[in-house]
Amino acid sequence: MEVDTAAINTIVDKYDKDKSYLLAMFQDVQRQYRYLPKEAIQHICDRLRIPFSKGYEVATFYSSISLTPRGKHTVHVCLGTACHLRGGPNILDTFERELKIKRGDTTENGLFTLESVNCLGACALAPLVRIDGHDYGKTTPGSVKKIIKEYGETT
Ligand code: FES
Repeated sequence: MEVDTAAINTIVDKYDKDKSYLLAMFQDVQRQYRYLPKEAIQHICDRLRIPFSKGYEVATFYSSISLTPRGKHTVHVCLGTACHLRGGPNILDTFERELKIKRGDTTENGLFTLESVNCLGACALAPLVRIDGHDYGKTTPGSVKKIIKEYGETT
C-alpha cells in the first residue's frame, strides 16, 4: 500500500530521528492507519538508517502493534475467570457468528476487529465486552446483536 511519506517524516522528525523512539513512531503511524503498514516500517527504517529487519523485529515483538489492517471498532470479549464462568465463551461465539469472522480477524467492511482478553478489571459486570473503551456488562447473545447494530452492522 501507498503511505503518506510526508506525514511519516513529520512523525520521525518529532522524535528527532532518535532510534530509541522507534516504538513511539510506530504507534503514531498506527494511530493514523489503524495498523502499521510494512511500507511505513521501511520508510522509517530508511530515515533512521537502520535495517528493515530491525524495525520489523520491534514491530512484531510488541503486541500493541498490528501489522494487518484493523477495524474501525475493536471488540474485546473478556474471557477472564469471572466472565468465562458467566458465559464469556458463548458471547465470543455469538460475535464470531454474527460478524462472520474468527477471533483476531477483521470484518471485510473494515468495521470490526474481534479480540478476546483476560479480565478487563470489571468482573462484577461479567460477562463483559469492551468496544473502543466503552463497556457493555452482563451481556447475553441477544444483547450482542443489539450492540453490533448500535455500531452500524446489521448482518
Ligand atoms: S474476568 Fe472479565 S472483567 Fe474480570
